[in-house]
Amino acid sequence: MTQDTLIVPAGDLGRDGTRWWRDAVIYQVYVRSFADSDGDGVGDLPGVRNRLPYLADLGVDALWLTPFYVSPMADFGYDVADYRDVDPLFGTLADARGLIADAHAHGLRIIVDVVPNHTSDRHAWFRAALAASPGSPERARYIVRDGRGPDGAEPPNDWESVFGGPAWTRLPDGQWYLHLFAPEQPDLNWENPEVHTEFAGILKFWLDLGVDGFRVDVAHGMAKAHGLPDVGHTDQVEMLGTAVLPYFDQDAVHDIHREWRRLLDSYGGERIAVAEAWAPTPERLAAYTRPDELHQAFNFHYLSAPWDAAGLREVIDESLCTAAAVGAPATWVLSNHDVKRHVTRYGGGERGLRRARAAALLTLALPGSAYVYQGEELGLPEVLDLPEEFQQDPQRLRGEGAGRDGCRVPMPWEGEEPPFGFGAGAASWLPIPAAWRDLTVAEQSGDPGSMLTLYQEALRVRSEHPALGDGALRWLAAPRGTLVFVRETHEATGGDGAGRRLACAVNLSGGTVRVPASGPPLLASGPVHTDGDHVELSPDTALWWDVETSGRQGGRLT
Ligand code: GLC
Repeated sequence: MTQDTLIVPAGDLGRDGTRWWRDAVIYQVYVRSFADSDGDGVGDLPGVRNRLPYLADLGVDALWLTPFYVSPMADFGYDVADYRDVDPLFGTLADARGLIADAHAHGLRIIVDVVPNHTSDRHAWFRAALAASPGSPERARYIVRDGRGPDGAEPPNDWESVFGGPAWTRLPDGQWYLHLFAPEQPDLNWENPEVHTEFAGILKFWLDLGVDGFRVDVAHGMAKAHGLPDVGHTDQVEMLGTAVLPYFDQDAVHDIHREWRRLLDSYGGERIAVAEAWAPTPERLAAYTRPDELHQAFNFHYLSAPWDAAGLREVIDESLCTAAAVGAPATWVLSNHDVKRHVTRYGGGERGLRRARAAALLTLALPGSAYVYQGEELGLPEVLDLPEEFQQDPQRLRGEGAGRDGCRVPMPWEGEEPPFGFGAGAASWLPIPAAWRDLTVAEQSGDPGSMLTLYQEALRVRSEHPALGDGALRWLAAPRGTLVFVRETHEATGGDGAGRRLACAVNLSGGTVRVPASGPPLLASGPVHTDGDHVELSPDTALWWDVETSGRQGGRLT
């Protein structure tokens, strides 16, 4: 047993209306793969709208919709040609309005993606830049430079694209433009005030339409180091490496976020922004959520942690401490549309599923806000054997297995055959494995042992139990390879101990463990056996139990 304690100061306010984002559970809808209303095989906004009752029933607080703007889809919508309109593939502006209104009627907030680091090469600005000459104001909206070497035939520096290959492409007149991602995604020049004005207008457009916030794509990339210096080494593409790169996480990027925060604060209703920022350390990440910057940042350090008690505990402690230091809520995320699904990361098969169930209880018991990626509530695995002809992700250029298509396979809703109610048509843009027949929403609904039921129950307890959500965490003595902590209300931590406490134990040890536990079990991710004042947890299992607090009963918890 190791005894150790950490108390993280509670944040400003809890879940009571204001500061809703401090403990919100936000569900990521990858629009293209969620629900297809018109039978063309691609998910769309009316599809999301039709499925709002499912999401409300699941018990999440908000939806984050991936980009649905006009786009040639070179990066599936992260290449935006018109930020103020909906791509016909996904619907119309009227559909967006209707979805926002219906979501609000279901008690769900809406967060939309904004992509400020780059536009599409089909954006009117980039087309104008192509038509204009070197040195023109049109080119000054992007990062366009002369090349090096004889005739400027070498790129201006050694930067590599995240998707593989050089980050520069040459224009017909010999100049080069920067693209940290695909060549179809030219980087904007955020040193140009025109870019600031344009994006303020885009944010206002969607705020006026009623959205509750933004997920800021590549929020760490908009500012580049002065003079665009060489990196000096290759293998730059590991976004979550510890390397300090001249095109990511530059201090100047924070000025942009401060400007955006002022704009968000000028609207009522606690409109928020969450940073997609791949920062080298939790401290650097927390800087994005200082009080005058963005509200949240995705915790990719948590997502990247392997299934190991000591490693997870370290990430959790660091995340809580660094977030608390800037007064922001920590966030927790296990999967998204860019990474291998966590059932597969945790070992796949029965073991991966068991661990994913335990991870759900761990994640939803931690202080702060949590993200759920569509399909994780069904226990969907990564699809590792997508036929070659379907693989479309530009990132596959990075090499074998680098494509992200396998985590973007559409949702299975009901029925015996693909596409399992995803759409009215016979096909879906990526084929859904026949084996997902057992994983459909319909199949799992009402089944007490299903992943869907576990998520529904966990979200229900989370919304009802006053100790969950924002607030303090205290680690308890635990056998090796096991995490045990208690969450408690303000009242429970102070004076007479009245109030509510919830304890969470997660067994990552590989064997059965016995943990002291007094109080009624609330929810278990797998087999547990209670005997008097102890509980036995099977490997890869988590348990929540209610801790009676009157008179600080259960001395083990202090
Ligand atoms: C973000 C998105 C990813 C996209 C990239 C470029 O990382 O999550 O899907 O490819 O930005 O916009």
